Amino acid sequence: MNTDADGEAQDRSPAVRRLSDWDPVRLEALVDEHGSPLYVLDLDRVRENYRRLDRAFPDAEILYAVKANALGDALEAIREAGAGLECASAGEVKRALEAGAPGSAIRYTAVNPPARDLDWVVDAWDDHPDLTITVGAEDTIDRLADRGYDGRLCLRVNPGIGAGHHEKVRTGAAAKFGVPAERAVDVLADAADRGFDVVGIHAHVGSGVQSDQLDAHREFVARMGDLARDVADAVGDLEFVDVGGGFGVPYREDEAPLDLDAVARATREAIGKIDATLSIEPGRYFVADAGVLLTDVNTVKDARETTVVGVDAGMTTLARPAMYDSFHPIRNLTADATDGGARETIPQTISGPICESGDVFCTDRELPASERGDVLAIGNAGAYGYEMASQYNSRPRPASVVLDGGDVRLARRRETFDDVTRLETARSAPDRDSNPETVR
Ligand code: LLP
Repeated sequence: MNTDADGEAQDRSPAVRRLSDWDPVRLEALVDEHGSPLYVLDLDRVRENYRRLDRAFPDAEILYAVKANALGDALEAIREAGAGLECASAGEVKRALEAGAPGSAIRYTAVNPPARDLDWVVDAWDDHPDLTITVGAEDTIDRLADRGYDGRLCLRVNPGIGAGHHEKVRTGAAAKFGVPAERAVDVLADAADRGFDVVGIHAHVGSGVQSDQLDAHREFVARMGDLARDVADAVGDLEFVDVGGGFGVPYREDEAPLDLDAVARATREAIGKIDATLSIEPGRYFVADAGVLLTDVNTVKDARETTVVGVDAGMTTLARPAMYDSFHPIRNLTADATDGGARETIPQTISGPICESGDVFCTDRELPASERGDVLAIGNAGAYGYEMASQYNSRPRPASVVLDGGDVRLARRRETFDDVTRLETARSAPDRDSNPETVR
């Protein structure tokens, strides 16, 4: 963190890192060394993103929503920087603990939790009694009680207001999430009577909320403030009021970044006076612009109406374009690094290797004419990139490298074809080729 003349902590990092800010020569060299496709995450940028959040919300408790990018190196860096970890599953709680987070820094937000998750987390609670479990249904409280849990409890409410970049990520009014806010006081009073340590209320309006949805954010936070006061009157003091994550990032190169100070101001005004700490838990904001996905061009084809550029990353590597029609910036690193921008620009449809028509990163986008062997970079891939990757079409998932100051390290190796079939129990029997019984 930079320190100004008054000794006041300042962070002067830019509000967004654009794809054009990355060094094309350095990125191409990473593909030379580690192969393609390749995820790259710059931990320094992750730290900067945290510091800007911390500066905008100096009195709030900041947690990182692990689901955006659960890479151990990222969790460790975020943890060390000072944020807590919000976990969506037992698997994420496990990774948070492995990254060195103490129980007090972990909140597990249980959404229709499978029995196995509750078993695992309640077991972990024995060793980490300060962890918090957030429940979004009354009967999750019963299921916790059945397992002997009477620890720190937070209630996720459904505030009836949603916002976000796509219908599929607007959670605040979706029936699936949270207990209807009007039942919260009764549910918490009951939980307190049963001996739970009631510590907070929580809601998450949705993901990818931009400045133009600030009114929805304000209304949502105001409802949380009212509820916090009602709960304090009827049940007792809360430790925190968690208003979730959802802070949007600009995916288009000319899109303005979120005005964090404006969001922070709106949040403070809307929540009113509460006798509890405000919590926020962004995911995307920490990691999106700290990550890029690099991919080799393997085919260039003149189709009837466009040029189709085939790359070795696809919807199995980065699902967002196929799933939400999300825009991601794309850059031809080879053209930028070697030809100094001299190539002709033509409309291109960049497609992956998966047998689905939705496996397309962009349609008719004007880019320097791609050639076989070029390396392309897909920007803003640090959030919900690798996390949503799959092995569909029996495609091994890519490797991930992290940049950490001057250091570069392979944080997760590329999967192999053997990794794809490793879990097939019958077929992995050592003697399957020699034993006709096991050959089907
Ligand atoms: N807290 C809760 C309870 C959440 O469900 C989420 C995201 C977050 C925090 C973090 O939201 P963020 O700050 O990252 O927007 N796969 C989608 C995004 C799904 C978000 C799900 N919940 C995408 O790629 O856009």
